[in-house]
Amino acid sequence: MCGIIGISSNKPVSANIISSLKKLEYRGYDSAGIATLFEGEIKEVKSEGRVDTLEQNFDLKNLKGNIGIGHVRWATHGVPNSVNAHPHSSHNVSVVHNGIIENSTILKKYLATKGHIFKSQTDTEVIVYLITENLKTDELEEAITKTLKQLHGSFALGIVFKDIPDLIVGARRGSPLAVGYGPNENYLGSDSYALKSMTNKITYLDDGEFCIIKKDQVLFFNEDGKKINKKILELSSDEASYEKGDFKHFMAKEIEEQPNTIETGIKEYIDKTNSEINIYNFPWNINEINSITLIGCGTAYHSCLMAKYWFEELTQIDISIDIASEFRYRKNRFKKDNLYIFVSQSGETADTYAALDLCKKNNMKTCAVVNVIESSIARDANFVLPIHCGPEIGVASTKAFLGQILILYILALKLGSLRNEINQETFKDKIKDLQNLPSLIEKSLLIDNDIQAISSTFNEAKGSMFLGRGFSYPIALEGALKLKELSYVHAEGYPAGEMKHGPLALIEDGMPVVVLAPRDSYYKKTISNMQEVIARGAKVLLITNKSKDEIVSENIWETIEVENTNDDLLPFLLTIPLQKLAYYSALKKGYDIDKPRNLAKSVTVE
Ligand code: AGP
Repeated sequence: MCGIIGISSNKPVSANIISSLKKLEYRGYDSAGIATLFEGEIKEVKSEGRVDTLEQNFDLKNLKGNIGIGHVRWATHGVPNSVNAHPHSSHNVSVVHNGIIENSTILKKYLATKGHIFKSQTDTEVIVYLITENLKTDELEEAITKTLKQLHGSFALGIVFKDIPDLIVGARRGSPLAVGYGPNENYLGSDSYALKSMTNKITYLDDGEFCIIKKDQVLFFNEDGKKINKKILELSSDEASYEKGDFKHFMAKEIEEQPNTIETGIKEYIDKTNSEINIYNFPWNINEINSITLIGCGTAYHSCLMAKYWFEELTQIDISIDIASEFRYRKNRFKKDNLYIFVSQSGETADTYAALDLCKKNNMKTCAVVNVIESSIARDANFVLPIHCGPEIGVASTKAFLGQILILYILALKLGSLRNEINQETFKDKIKDLQNLPSLIEKSLLIDNDIQAISSTFNEAKGSMFLGRGFSYPIALEGALKLKELSYVHAEGYPAGEMKHGPLALIEDGMPVVVLAPRDSYYKKTISNMQEVIARGAKVLLITNKSKDEIVSENIWETIEVENTNDDLLPFLLTIPLQKLAYYSALKKGYDIDKPRNLAKSVTVE
């Protein structure tokens, strides 16, 4: 999960490379570097830390050269430091890389016999010396073709050459890479986000392809070195999404955007006049689908788990879910009448993409629920259901989670209706209820003061539990993940009914425990579980929905009530206080909320 940029221009490139790298820092930010070609030399500067640190350490404004490559790193091989930072260069080749070279050890041994001395602990350096070796005997295109065939694993590459100072080579296998087109210059980037400030004309490389980028020409080649043509996409402009506006953090902005993004999602799929759901161009006859497998990672996996409950409630379809990194290595028995749905905000998560690729290779029905419609997962699935949330910049997913579960809920409703497993009156009532969801979310957002006061307790504790049953259980997992990834404190989501089978031993005096107990069909049982943890000293934060009925329990530390709605939609509202709890906990600790340590927004390596 690193970020790559390359620019071939008729004017100096360092300033644009630096500004593009700053947009790519969401992909990784433990070190950064750039290399330009000037007067027959490779000028390489790199350092540990953020792009800002690179600017402080080097006089980049005076880094000359009209050709250059840049990189922001999330370490996979070798600790984050200036030696392991990219670019990596020989005397005549410089490379930036996103991915993992799985045969780097063997290649290192081979290259050492050729006299190459490795400076870093990275796998990337083998690419530098492999190209250097192949250029001794082959012209550029042949040397690149040969090198790529020698590499096992995944890569997105940007490469410049001292002796060929008017071009950049880009190559892609398993990690995203795009080409952008500008006036008297052309670009290479990990994704459209890095390129959008310079162009809205983009071409995506597909696996196995490489390209040669000059300031006035771009050529594409397949894995055999044969020239190919690629189409140019025009990107939508959503520049506003890339600014924080008045918010302190992107995450804060994206939490507050949720009423709008949910409203957009509803408008995209719901015809409220006719109380109908429009899912256009669904490529299969509904009778061809008798079961569904939902696959994702992290928050996207929690969306899959949430959807399982809704599909089970609304349809008779057999539903299974799996974590993508598990699915891809399982002894899967692929079934023709199974629909495989891949949930991913970025659409670039390596494990999710690999799971999709596996299904495609087995000619399975594949559908993508994504936010980035130009992404690899979106492009390679048979059918795409966009969530229409606009760019989500904060590493901790918020609006995209709500967008994912909205689209999955809508899909469950639609399939249940098509299969006549929901009666039409219920179907139309549920569509009507959905129209109120944005305003209910809006009201549920107005809890800042309560949550801010509570959040300190979670910071001071050595750990916390998030409990829920049924529809609330996936939300408990999601709330725990948010707190973990933002505040770096241990938090565990658990089925409320499971506590007595072991984890109750964790409960000690003063331990904060979030109990999600809306007044749905699981309410009474969950309140009983809540009393079990209170009896052992837990400080319970009860999150429920407004009701005239009193809560039959004592010694509840704090209670937060979200708005009332039908049981199906309560998970949307229960999520809001948990997002804010994690945000304010991290804010109090002074942590980097939009870029938490060790993480990245798009995990494009295994
Ligand atoms: C969620 O807050 C995390 N950033 C992470 O779990 C994320 O959901 C996961 O990496 C999947 O990303 P994707 O949706 O882009 O595939």
